[in-house]
Amino acid sequence: MAPTLLVLLGAVAILRADVLPDDFSLLPPVNFTITVTSLAQVLLRWKPNPDQECRGAQLGYHLRIHAPQDDDYEIKYTVRKYEAVLHRGFSASVRTILWERRPSPASHWVSAQLKAPPGSPGTSAVNLTCTTNTAANSHAASRPYRVSLHCAWHAGKEAPPDTQYFLYYRYGSWTEECRQYSQDALKRNVACWFPTTSIDGKGQDALAVRVNGSSPHAAIRPYDRLFALHEIDRVNPPGNVTAEMEGTHLSVRWQKPVSAFPEHCWDYEVRIYSARKGYVQVENTTATTFNTTVSDVSRYCVVVRAAVSFTCREQGAWSAWSRPTGTGKDEQKPWTEWLLVPLSAALCAALVCSLGRRTGHVCTKLFPPVPGPKSDIGDLVGTVNYEKTGSGETESEVISYVDEGPETLEDLVF
Ligand SMILES: *[C@@H]1O[C@H](CO)[C@@H](O)[C@H](O)[C@H]1NC(C)=O
Ligand SMILES: *[C@@H]1O[C@H](CO)[C@@H](O)[C@H](O)[C@H]1NC(C)=O
Ligand SMILES: *[C@@H]1O[C@H](CO)[C@@H](O)[C@H](O)[C@H]1NC(C)=O
Repeated sequence: MAPTLLVLLGAVAILRADVLPDDFSLLPPVNFTITVTSLAQVLLRWKPNPDQECRGAQLGYHLRIHAPQDDDYEIKYTVRKYEAVLHRGFSASVRTILWERRPSPASHWVSAQLKAPPGSPGTSAVNLTCTTNTAANSHAASRPYRVSLHCAWHAGKEAPPDTQYFLYYRYGSWTEECRQYSQDALKRNVACWFPTTSIDGKGQDALAVRVNGSSPHAAIRPYDRLFALHEIDRVNPPGNVTAEMEGTHLSVRWQKPVSAFPEHCWDYEVRIYSARKGYVQVENTTATTFNTTVSDVSRYCVVVRAAVSFTCREQGAWSAWSRPTGTGKDEQKPWTEWLLVPLSAALCAALVCSLGRRTGHVCTKLFPPVPGPKSDIGDLVGTVNYEKTGSGETESEVISYVDEGPETLEDLVF
């Protein structure tokens, strides 16, 4: 009964919209305003035109964000939150439409804009990159993981030597200023480290970052950037990798990386190097074990890396490789066996590196420094260049918006 009634009501509404006379005109909304509510976030608001007649038709709005490519929304409400970089200014337009008709006739547009903040664009921080990393949080059982954030940038070409830069991030409704900076030769802040942030280790929201600044000699233009977490997350390598040989059976096990993502969220790549033949076996799996039968008795060297699988998050980069683990023995040189035990890791690393070079990989790529919590600010200077090669270098800017439901808007909608 109820569905029939709804269908009937819908039909009546459509009919009403369809039979609207030609002289029915749509008037643009009034009092359109854009307000900055927090870092890289604005609130767009307008009111229905007081002279708009309805004749039973339901009105809606077509909102167009110029950011700078157009981004269009058709909505019923008269308020909208939106996330965008604001250092170039921000503008948007809105017009009235008929909610039940597609394509709908529309009123004229009304527009509003935020001016770009003061300061020449050349004074802004440039080449801002950020990376996140998850560590176990031993202090709080309620939050077993903490996410750290590291960002680096360069001073703008037109920034006076006495410029000082400051970095802020916003994740959700939480905004925080950096307290651990490192500096360039002119003592300008050019990198920042947050050992703990409010970022959710499994989060999907964009991370907003702003570097603004001040100088006694010039206005410094702020620089904003929205990062997608999956693009900047530097995933930890798998832990406790062990490899065992029994006859020709080679068995490898490991643990999921330190991460808020559970067991089922991981893809792994296992590489097995043979000392005798020099061949490389590459396997992909979602399990935390890998078993294989090898053709001859030799010394084998194993490394594993991990990535969050697309079932749990948009695909990001692979982790670094785990520390190489050796197993098996080289029959031809039994006298070296005693040596292989204490030196196995080093020999294994050397083997992986030499094979890596032969197959076109560079050893440093295979074994980049394993990311870990850093508390020493001096460390940061050393990591700046390395950060630049990280995935945070991708220039894509994520524009996302908060789709507010009517319940949460009660105090905002008029
Ligand atoms: C629009 O803003 C003006 C000035 O603030 C105000 O007087 C007017 O009532 C507003 N219009 C509506 C429809 O709210
Ligand atoms: C910023 O990055 C661009 C492109 O990678 C590069 O050409 C430029 O030199 C960098 N600027 C600074 C100040 O490092
Ligand atoms: C930088 O931005 C933050 C956050 O938007 C703001 O609180 C702060 O006053 C700004 N500082 C300068 C020097 O503009």
